[in-house]
Amino acid sequence: MPLPRINPTRTGAWERLGAHYQQLKDKSLRDLFSEDPERAERFSIEWNSFLLDYSKNRIDAGTMELLEELARECGLEQAMEAYFSGEPINETEGRAVLHMALRAEAGDGFHLDGVDLYGEVSRVRKQMQAFSGEIISGKRTGYTGKAFTDVVNIGIGGSDLGPVMVTEALKYYRNHLRLHFMSNVDGDHVHDILHGLNPETTLFVIVSKSFTTQETLSNALTARAWFLQHTSHENVGAHFAAVSTNTDKIGEFGIAPENVFPMWDWVGGRFSLWSAVGLSICLSIGYEHFSNLLRGARDMDRHFRSAPLGENLPVVLGLLSLWYNNFFGAETEAVIPYSQYLHRLPAYLQQGVMESNGKSVDRDGHRVPYQTGTIIWGEPGTNSQHAFFQLIHQGTKLIPADFIGFRHSLFGDLEHHHKLMANFFAQTEALMNGKPEDEVRQELQARGVSGPALDRLAPFKVFEGNNPTNTLLIDRLSPETLGALIALYEHKIFVQGILWNIFSYDQWGVELGKELANTILRELEDSKFGRHDASTLQLLQYFNR
Ligand code: F6P
Repeated sequence: MPLPRINPTRTGAWERLGAHYQQLKDKSLRDLFSEDPERAERFSIEWNSFLLDYSKNRIDAGTMELLEELARECGLEQAMEAYFSGEPINETEGRAVLHMALRAEAGDGFHLDGVDLYGEVSRVRKQMQAFSGEIISGKRTGYTGKAFTDVVNIGIGGSDLGPVMVTEALKYYRNHLRLHFMSNVDGDHVHDILHGLNPETTLFVIVSKSFTTQETLSNALTARAWFLQHTSHENVGAHFAAVSTNTDKIGEFGIAPENVFPMWDWVGGRFSLWSAVGLSICLSIGYEHFSNLLRGARDMDRHFRSAPLGENLPVVLGLLSLWYNNFFGAETEAVIPYSQYLHRLPAYLQQGVMESNGKSVDRDGHRVPYQTGTIIWGEPGTNSQHAFFQLIHQGTKLIPADFIGFRHSLFGDLEHHHKLMANFFAQTEALMNGKPEDEVRQELQARGVSGPALDRLAPFKVFEGNNPTNTLLIDRLSPETLGALIALYEHKIFVQGILWNIFSYDQWGVELGKELANTILRELEDSKFGRHDASTLQLLQYFNR
């Protein structure tokens, strides 16, 4: 069953949404709240330890009905069936998209070509459990018999961002191992990491789905050369592990077969942290926490698969985002976690969302006549309040934002947590309500400002408000809730890709730059430049001078 091919703009729901937008676009959220006393409850979803309050959006009950109608007309339910049943929905690469199988339990029934994937997945999970357990406990040691103290994950894109985001997010649960992430081919980054390490107690985990990525292979070779400056070749086996679908290439690198962790082509790099790509996560927090991360994601998978569209977290978030993207013309979305531990979440979501849905060709190969993937950005609150919130509050752009916060802090410092969360609540309230001119005037008058000074100052202090936000209030940051949160965004990506009639699971757009870089690298090495535009040639010659 291939994915449906429906131009969303040709559906009846799209047309009705267009008319509905005209009626709603100038309405204020303040008015919408005063017209409907049930609004907060009506536009909230409670699920496990999550509360999603999406009432501070520029919607009414009619909007959500029309958006759901759009989802149905675009064949979302049929597409979900194809997704979960292992159909090759990544059509341009001829692959299934089954990262959900990586967190499944026995009997969940994820099949590919008639084979239940559980057997293979659980075999690799056991391998991860045994390996990480032995490294953490010190049973497996380095070449001089000392226990490992440091782990360096060498990978880029999905082979870096997921592991680094999760290990940072779950630092509270970490053990004694120090984690380092070597991703950029920038030698300064590589040598800076190596500089502080002891080869006797450092484990390198090379992660590359393809095992052909220039950055990862170069960094791995540099790491191995550094290691070999201290010891002999026969010790490489004890200090290097690798994760890839390309196990032949790993052998060539000299990695011991028992340190090779397979993955599969039905897992996209940006959705792979649940596989052995998450080995560094496992090393950092131990297998039990890792399996709780999987459990949280599994719970979200089940919710996504079974909840009615209007009560379905990924569907609702996906539809709201489309509403702003395609009707209000919003280009970006901010993700603001009120937890410093989640500081890499926006960067992680950038790859997930932008590599997946940054497409301009529909599933029939035609240019889409509408906007697709949103630009994702963000930083944790409260830091971001002191950086870019000015523009969200008083700038000219509409920026829908997701606020993610936790009811309980991990260290239990209530005083800090109340301050943090007071800001969290205050920001969405301020973004929604703004501050009208009469209020500004009253405030200034109360401070003794009057006459021309009052008139001059007032406009600068007005906040228009009406800025939409989603609030996700979660019980506490744990492996389970983090797993569910990540899976929520993964499925939101799927929902949007389906509605936009694009293929979300390939990434051809990163290839051209890679090819040109290879050509230029050869030219730099030979100091001989081929055909380039005048600007690029000038830059190359200047660099080489
Ligand atoms: O940037 C393109 C990309 O293919 C990503 O999709 C992927 O996560 C990254 O490169 C790394 O690829 P690999 O894991 O094969 O080294």
